[in-house]
Order: sequence, then structure tokens, then C-alpha cells
Amino acid sequence: MKHDKQVEILSELMRQIDAKTNIDAGVRYRMPTASYCDRDIAAREREVLFRDYPQLIGLSGDLAEPGAYFTLADFGVPILSVRGQDGRFRAFLNACRHRGVRVAGEERGVAARFSCPFHAWTYSNQGELTAIPQEAQFGSIDKQCHGLIGLPAEERDGLLWVHPNRDGVLDLDAQLGALGEEIALGRYGDLVYAGESVLDKRLNWKLANDTFGETWHFQKLHAKTLGRLFYGDNLAYETFGRNHRFVFASRMIDQLRDRPKTEWRLKQAANLLYYLFPNVQFNVGLGGNVSLIRIYPHPEDPGRSITRVGHYFTRETMALMEQADANFDVVTPETVYERDPERPRVASLSAAKELFISTIEQEDYLMGESTQRSVESGLLPEILFGRNEPALHHFHRTFADVLQIAGPQRVE
Ligand code: FES
Ligand SMILES: [Fe+2]
Repeated sequence: MKHDKQVEILSELMRQIDAKTNIDAGVRYRMPTASYCDRDIAAREREVLFRDYPQLIGLSGDLAEPGAYFTLADFGVPILSVRGQDGRFRAFLNACRHRGVRVAGEERGVAARFSCPFHAWTYSNQGELTAIPQEAQFGSIDKQCHGLIGLPAEERDGLLWVHPNRDGVLDLDAQLGALGEEIALGRYGDLVYAGESVLDKRLNWKLANDTFGETWHFQKLHAKTLGRLFYGDNLAYETFGRNHRFVFASRMIDQLRDRPKTEWRLKQAANLLYYLFPNVQFNVGLGGNVSLIRIYPHPEDPGRSITRVGHYFTRETMALMEQADANFDVVTPETVYERDPERPRVASLSAAKELFISTIEQEDYLMGESTQRSVESGLLPEILFGRNEPALHHFHRTFADVLQIAGPQRVE
């Protein structure tokens, strides 16, 4: 992000903190709860949001070397995502051209070739069919025409995108708009992949997404956890088409007050959260470390969702974490939350991941699961989004617009 924008955002957050105010959208919305439990809406979401639009599936660090690959099937299409020997990122339908069996069965690894478990047709990591056992008995076929089926895929500025439709148009300029330039400045391609956490929970995928939609619950729900690190009740917010940028202050922001603005850096003092349509929360935490949160609807149950959180760290943070592992026998989320800003304690890798995931799972998603039960009763036809919750307005107006369904209704 450009430095003058960082200063503008940090100044706005300080202004809100000093004035004891929060962002004000000037409008509230009534939100129909059918959106969280209606089976027809859920089917339409899977067909449209997850089949007609580009999907962000990881960062360059997921494929750190030639031959590195990972598989996924989160939006109904089995995908093999791989960096070829030539260094290029490609995405294929993870399906053998003989009888359609998955050619890569592991979640991730490094492989020069993929051999189908059924009859051992073999493909290069660039998708070419290279070997058919007993080819003379099978009958000769043109191998050139029977490589893995490619999907539109692009690695741009450290982000890995795929279109789930073979004939889909992967137009990232249209998808990201002006946010694309800002993301390019983030150097996300330099981050190191450090594992993934998966949460399979009893809440609609949009309710899971909504938990990333405002900061005024920090001093209530997260009083003993996140609330120690972040003020809450402040938000610098901007939309970019269907996406948004959502920034809130860390308590470290106060350390900037006596320093010249030329020295201000967002990553020292605030948490940056991009929402990338349709289902990604791209969290850039203190120090520039990233949690890539991808939230998927369950294929059969609108009341269930799967959240995948990819953990990515800067090389500096990885080095510090190795020291932390050596210096502290036990680094728990509690010890990190109680850290003294003058003597910051660095979490070990496992504690840092646990910290992030446990807050989501044991605090935010518990609220969402509770809402899910209420809306499934059929007795709560709508809920409310306040003036201090503009991200919730934007998510749901966007979904309603794309799906052409009833969305939130404005209340003056
Ligand atoms: S299905 Fe893959 S080799 Fe037969
Ligand atoms: Fe939260």
C-alpha cells in the first residue's frame, strides 16, 4: 500500500480512538435470514459464486519449488494445482483421462509426475500424458490430446487464482479493480507457507464470513483475547467493487503518535483485512504475516461450512519464531496476549497458528453457530446491521446483486 494511504488510514484510526467514535455508514439494514438457511439460495450460490467467478486458492508460497503441488475440491471441482518444471503455475482438473480417477491423492507434496492409482496412466507436472502401461493392448491413442484438462489459472503478485469453469474468463483486473495495484505492492509472493488449519462448523458460510465484518465486538466477545491487542470500535473502510479493505488499530498505534509520519507503517500498528469476492478474508496481521481465510459452503447443508486458513509468514517472522521455540518452553495464546509491548514475546509457530484459530473457533464461530440455530427455527425472519457495520452491508448487498435475490433492506 502506498505510504500516503497508510498515513491517511492510521490518522483516521487515531481520530476515531481519540473521539471515542467508530465508523458511521449513516444507514442501517434489515437482513432476511433466509439467506443463511434456504436451500434454493444455497444451491444458487454454489452454482454462481463458486462456479462462475475466479477463485483465490493460495499464495505463491504454497508452491515453493518446481513440482510442488496441492489438491483441493472445495467448490465442487477436483483441482490439481502445480508448479511445473518450468516454474509456471497451472491448475488442472484432478481427473485421469482414462476413466476419471483422481491422479493426485495427497493434499500436497512435490512430484515430477503423477501416476493414476487405477491403471497407472502417468502425467508430467505440466499436465502432459507421458505413459500408458500396456498401450498396445489398450489400443493406441494420441497422447498429445489426452493430457490433464487445464483450467484457466494465473499467478499474479503472489496470489494463485483459478477459474472453476474450463471456458471461464480469468479477468483479474475486472475482479479486483483498483485493489489490484495495492495488492501488488504487498509482496505477498515472498511469504513462506507454514501450514493450514481447517474448521468444519455448523454455520452458514456467510455467517462465518460475517464474523469478519465489524470490530465493535472486540471488547465484548474478545475481551480476554484479541481485545488485549486491538482497541476495537474503530475501522477504516473502503470498497473496491465487490471487494473491500478493512483496517483496525492495534494498541501499538499509540507508539506512532510521537514519531514523524514518514516513519509510520501500517503493519506496525494495525491489522489489514481484505475481503476478496466471493469468499476470502485475506488477513495481513502485525509484521505483515498473512492468514488466508477461505470459507466454503457445505455442498449439502446450508447450515454448515468449511473454513480453510492458510498460514503464511515473512522470513523475518519465521526466523524469530525459531528463536521463540528455543527461548520459551511453553508459549501459549495466553502468554502472547499478555505480552508487554516493550518486551514483545514472539509466539512459536504452533502457538501463533493456535492463537488465530482458537479465537475464530472458540469465540467468533460460536456466535455464528448460535445465530444459525436461531434462524433455522424459522421464527427469526430478519436480523439487523448497524451504522457501524458497513462491511456487512456491502457483503450482503453484493451477494444479493450477483445472485438476484432479496437482499438487505435499507432503514434510515
Ligand atoms: S483411471 Fe486412471 S489409469 Fe485408469
Ligand atoms: Fe471476532
